[in-house]
Formats: sequence, C-alpha cells, structure tokens
Amino acid sequence: MVVVFVLGLCVSALMERRAEVASIFNNRKNVIKGIEARNELFKDDFPREYQTWTETAKTDFESEFNGNIAVVALENRPEMVILWAGYAFSKDYSTPRGHMHAIEDITASLRTGAPVNPTDGPQPSTCWTCKSPDVPRMMEALGVDSFYNNKWGAMGAEIVNPIGCSDCHDPETMNLHISRPALIEAFQRQGKDITKATPQEMRSLVCAQCHVEYFFKGDGKYLTFPWDKGFTVEDMEAYYDEAGFYDYIHKLSRTPILCAITFTNANAKRTKFVTAWNRNWRKRISKLNLLGIMERQKLK
Ligand code: HEC
Ligand code: HEC
Repeated sequence: MVVVFVLGLCVSALMERRAEVASIFNNRKNVIKGIEARNELFKDDFPREYQTWTETAKTDFESEFNGNIAVVALENRPEMVILWAGYAFSKDYSTPRGHMHAIEDITASLRTGAPVNPTDGPQPSTCWTCKSPDVPRMMEALGVDSFYNNKWGAMGAEIVNPIGCSDCHDPETMNLHISRPALIEAFQRQGKDITKATPQEMRSLVCAQCHVEYFFKGDGKYLTFPWDKGFTVEDMEAYYDEAGFYDYIHKLSRTPILCAITFTNANAKRTKFVTAWNRNWRKRISKLNLLGIMERQKLK
C-alpha cells in the first residue's frame, strides 16, 4: 500500500516536472535563434538555472582541493616559479574560480600582459577560447583559423560575457551542444562523430570542451587536443614527441618541458575527462616536482 502510494507520488512529481518543462518552453519570452552570447537574455525564461549560474560568482570557501577563491599559488609554492622558469605561468598563477569570473581573471592575469593595441601582447587570441560564449560568435564572424591567428588583445573589445548558457546549450532548443571546434575535430581525427554522443556522454562532453589538456598548434596557434593516440599521459606524451611539441624550454636546465598540469581544478573532477586527468596529473606532477627538487639543489 505504502509502496504504491510512494510510487504514485514519484510518477505524479515526474509528470508535473514534464508539464513544467513543456510550459516553460512553450512560453519562452525570448525566442533565440543562432548564436547568443548574452547570458542575461536567458534570465526571464530560465530563472532557476540562471540563479544557479550566478552562484558561480561566489568566493566563500577555501579547501585543500581548491575552494572557489583565487589563491595565489606562486606565493604559497615559490618553487613553482623556478619550476616554470621560461613559461608564462611563472609570472602569475592563481587557483581557478567559478565560471562568472572567467573574463575578469584572464584580463587581470599577468600572463596576458597589458596589450595596448590589437597586435600587441604576449599571448594569442586562442587564450580566449575557454572563457566566453562570445568565442563561437567571433569564430563564426571571422572563421576559426583567423580567430586563433590573432593576438589576444585583438579580441578584447568583443569578448565580454563570461562562460555561460550558450557554451553548453543550443540557445534555441536548450539541448546540450558542443560549441567549440577543438573537441569536434579531436573526435573526427579518432574517426568518431560527436553528434552521435548519448545524452549521458554529453553531460561530460560539454565540460571537456574546456577542462582538458590541449596545445596551440603551429604558428597559427590552432587549438588542438593531443588525443590522436589515446587518452593516457603516455599516449599524449607520444603524440607530443612525434609532433616535436613542448610547452617551454626550462631557463635553468634548458630542458624542453611539457606541462600538462595547467588548467586543472580538483572541483571539476566530477566530470569523466577531468577525473582521468587528475589521476594522470599526479604522475606528471611528481615528475615535475622531481625536476623542481633537482633545480633547487643546483641553485644551492
Ligand atoms: C567554455 C569553457 C568551459 C566550459 C564549457 C566549462 N568550464 Fe569550468 N571553467 C572554465 C574556466 C576558464 C574556469 C576558471 C575560471 C576562473 O578562474 O576565472 C573554470 C572553472 C571551473 C570550476 C571552478 C573551480 C574552482 O576551484 O572553484 C569548476 C568547478 C568547473 N569549472 C567545472 C565545470 C564543469 C562541471 C563543466 C561542465 C558542466 C564546466 N566546468 C564547463 C571553463 C569552462
Ligand atoms: C558548463 C555548462 C553549462 C552551462 C554554462 C549552463 N548549463 Fe544548463 N545544463 C547543463 C547541463 C550539463 C545540464 C543537464 C542536462 C541533462 O540533464 O542532460 C543543464 C540543464 C539545463 C536545463 C534543463 C533543466 C531540466 O531540468 O530539464 C536548462 C533549462 C538549463 N540548463 C538552462 C541554462 C541556462 C539558462 C544557463 C545560463 C544562465 C545554463 N543552463 C548554463 C550545462 C550547462
């Protein structure tokens, strides 16, 4: 009796939820077609999701595995400055914060310098790729190659909305979608069609557009995922070795170094891709730390 009653409650809650979703979609005030980067335009139609999205702005807890506060990592671990000597991360590295801070944080970082015109500055435009729903808009306007093949300063006036709805959703149907070419291309090179991904896979894949190991290929700084040989650190290392790629040449040891630990954050490990990386990072970090210790001994 009780079981039947509880089941009945569940079914009716589900039906109500479906009706609610249908009525939300039928009564949308802002019917959006094409690419829409402005997060505010989703607020009236999806107030609850919008509200949870704004919560990514919170900076109220610190933890062993990165809270949501930007902790200046180089201050806490000064050895990283030596470890990263010759790499932009030695200038400035803070732990990640929530998505709403993406534009603010990349702009404030010393790694992007202070470009004074569109052809100035240390970084390419590729650095914007994981920061904003304005990126697909600009890629459509300029072409993907030309988007990457620019200085970071060139896109500053256009890229203003922090990571938001259209990065993960098709704005018209609100289905999950892949907005970044690098992930689609990595799948294609493996002979896989990302449009065949299941809804469950899509829940991870939307995150894997950004929370992955990547590199900027060639002079055009084309954003590329090193997945052609597989997903393990060894596979990616083999890929990089074959491509002759390294992230930087260490200033003291003159060793070419791959740095696969950039853009990690322990909080994001609920996604499959990032979890795989966290496991592998540990290996990589230990190798790097070893190098750090060696460097410190040399310095003494
Ligand atoms: C368009 C690129 C992009 C996508 C898509 C994306 N992220 Fe992020 N994420 C970032 C960037 C960039 C940061 C760091 C922002 C900063 O520090 O200002 C970040 C930060 C985070 C943080 C905060 C870390 C902390 O320590 O508080 C979490 C958690 C996170 N992402 C999880 C996810 C999950 C889960 C998904 C998929 C549902 C996802 N992200 C999809 C780019 C992205
Ligand atoms: C980082 C990726 C990401 C961002 C940014 C994001 N969402 Fe989502 N959203 C998801 C995922 C993943 C789901 C779960 C989809 C599923 O259950 O298959 C979801 C679910 C939803 C749903 C369906 C809810 C339901 O219960 O059926 C709506 C509506 C939605 N999001 C609206 C928004 C709005 C509005 C924004 C911007 C303010 C936004 N989302 C930003 C990833 C994202």
